[in-house]
Amino acid sequence: MKKKVLAALLSAAMVATLLAGCGKKAEEPATAPAETEAPAETPAEEPAEAPEEAAGDFADKKVGVCIYQFSDNFMTLFRTELENYLISLGFVKENITIVDGQNDQATQSDQIDRFIQQGVDVLIINPVNSSSAETITDKVVGANIPLVYINREPDEAEQKRWADNDWNVTYVGCDARQSGTMQGELIADLGLETIDKNGNGKIDYIMIQGDPENIDAQYRTEFSVKALEDAGLEVNELFNQVGNWQQVEAQTLVANALGQFTTDIEVVFCNNDAMALGALQAIDAAGRKVGEDIFLVGVDALSEALEDVIAGTMTGTVFNDHFSQSHNAADAAVNYLTGAGNEHKISCDYVKVTKDNAQEVLDMVK
Ligand code: GAL
Repeated sequence: MKKKVLAALLSAAMVATLLAGCGKKAEEPATAPAETEAPAETPAEEPAEAPEEAAGDFADKKVGVCIYQFSDNFMTLFRTELENYLISLGFVKENITIVDGQNDQATQSDQIDRFIQQGVDVLIINPVNSSSAETITDKVVGANIPLVYINREPDEAEQKRWADNDWNVTYVGCDARQSGTMQGELIADLGLETIDKNGNGKIDYIMIQGDPENIDAQYRTEFSVKALEDAGLEVNELFNQVGNWQQVEAQTLVANALGQFTTDIEVVFCNNDAMALGALQAIDAAGRKVGEDIFLVGVDALSEALEDVIAGTMTGTVFNDHFSQSHNAADAAVNYLTGAGNEHKISCDYVKVTKDNAQEVLDMVK
């Protein structure tokens, strides 16, 4: 495993984050994550760097990690990297417990109760429902355990409570508006003449949404279209349905949409890559050709999607930096354990991916 830094691809703002140790893989050898089905990683070629935080002794610290659903592709990358990075900071694998909420808030709430009873030192939570954050926070703060939310952002009122009460609670994640805007720009940059195959002067699109309760899905849906409008393009939404972040659901939806609207569909927006991969299967089955008579974008930069971008079978995607996010989450946990504390929100940047930089991103994520 080589150190692969994305600096050349990124904005100055993100370079700063990278230099702080994010945007690259953890370098500690790791076996399969606790209670996860993720594949074992190959051992690192180089010894782990000693981040400043590793000065603390975390060998006896217990970390509880709640993931909303293990079968989610992006969250699998996230949790694998999170565990590897925690180990590189000096945590012991046996003391890191990662559990699957199975997309059920009641299941996850029981898991949180169990972690509290076990007396974990810190909790990292990817909530099933962001709207349950208030209840979760009350429970965890009541037990005097620091809490790092990841990936699904609790609303502003909830975040304000953390600040007002000076609680040890933070959220680590990227701003989904940015990813939506980048998706829209990937399409707008092609120009109306390239996209407008039916010649009606508009961008005729379909939208496949993730879980509608999730702010990522809401913002990506809104801001991808807004970016088209901001570029002066007229839009026409033909179809907008929920694929719950899942490839198979998206494949069915896009097949239905293609059956209904046939060649009028010029653009397929998917809130993530898993669904874009499903969309691509439906597009292939309908005999349409991405880059020629239809355009397709996702978010996440899954390896398979990057290979499609390189091959031209996907127009583009947006890198959802699971390295930065997982490292920032682990660093935030460390800052609570050492007493250094954290801001109540820790952000990162997305990166637009086209054919021009897809290979570089693939080299880094693989
Ligand atoms: C998004 C990601 C999706 C899915 C979702 C889960 O950030 O793009 O693929 O993992 O999080 O909340």
